[in-house]
Amino acid sequence: MANVKISLIGAGNIGGVLAHQAAARELGDVVLFDVVAGLPQGKALDISHGLPVCGSSARISGTNDYADTANSDLYIVTAGLARKPGMSRDDLLSKNLSIMKDVAGNIKQHSPNAIVIVVSNPLDAMVWTMKEITGFPRERVVGMAGILDSARFQYFVADALGVSPCDVIALVLGGHGDTMVPLRRYCSVSGVPLQKLMDDATIDAIVKRVQGAGGEVVGLLKTGSAFVSPAESALQMAESILRDQKRVLPCAAYLEGEYGSSGIYMGVPVQLGAGGVEKILELDLDAAEQAMLDKSIEHVKTLLGEIEL
Ligand code: NAI
Ligand code: 2OP
Repeated sequence: MANVKISLIGAGNIGGVLAHQAAARELGDVVLFDVVAGLPQGKALDISHGLPVCGSSARISGTNDYADTANSDLYIVTAGLARKPGMSRDDLLSKNLSIMKDVAGNIKQHSPNAIVIVVSNPLDAMVWTMKEITGFPRERVVGMAGILDSARFQYFVADALGVSPCDVIALVLGGHGDTMVPLRRYCSVSGVPLQKLMDDATIDAIVKRVQGAGGEVVGLLKTGSAFVSPAESALQMAESILRDQKRVLPCAAYLEGEYGSSGIYMGVPVQLGAGGVEKILELDLDAAEQAMLDKSIEHVKTLLGEIEL
């Protein structure tokens, strides 16, 4: 049987890790696309040379021609500028908007039945643009951010308690920005509530660090933003879709009444399977949590107000 076809749009830092890991884990045949001549071809060739060593039979190629991505089952889009120190994700809007329109038009033309995972920032606005331009149903256009933000929450808690990050359960809802909503009430270590294990001041400091974690990495790297953990997060989504695992993961999903909002993307728990976003799970939020989510929704709406399609 033919392998599934995965196209990665953007062969930069995240695209490179995605291509390597998708091929090494044999998620499917991988096509790496970028507008820079030679970049995707060079990365694909380098990755190919490592496949015999890591024992993978995946096929990977690089291209500057969208026709080579035709009839893809899944796209992961990381095309666009990344943050530099002092920039917010929102500062990327005007540049990345024109890139996203171009990418979305090409995906629609070449793979009208594909599922699309968007990673580019500002995430909630870029994934919305992808849905608007392709006209794909909400099940087939989803954004990656919540897995990364939740993983950062898990890691900081684990580090503070000296336990394995694998045993920390954490959930971050909302937009991918300073208004994200880390849910301390839903955080536990193997079922033991976080609030039994840490005082409020320590939890407050961790929550603040989660909200600024992307910027913390940018400040250290200086030339770009985090790329290994975002790639791992997008791969978890891809694997759940391609292997129909039906994982429940926090992702940016298009709301149609859920959480009291419609017509925007928000980070919420979703079930990801062969159909893409198969279900949106609604949580009972207390007044403070709902207020934080409402603030995040307002922020994303303001950003969408600046978009001309
Ligand atoms: P990068 O700068 O290393 O790579 C971006 C690539 O996009 C470059 O190779 C560039 O040539 C390519 N590109 C530019 N215009 C294009 C076009 N029209 N078509 C196709 N490719 C095009 O950036 P990196 O680190 O890979 O980040 C990619 C995006 O992901 C950024 O917008 C960044 O802010 C975002 N990001 C999102 C995260 C999230 O949680 N959602 C986390 C980290 C980064
Ligand atoms: C991050 O959270 C910058 O969105 C990017 O690392």
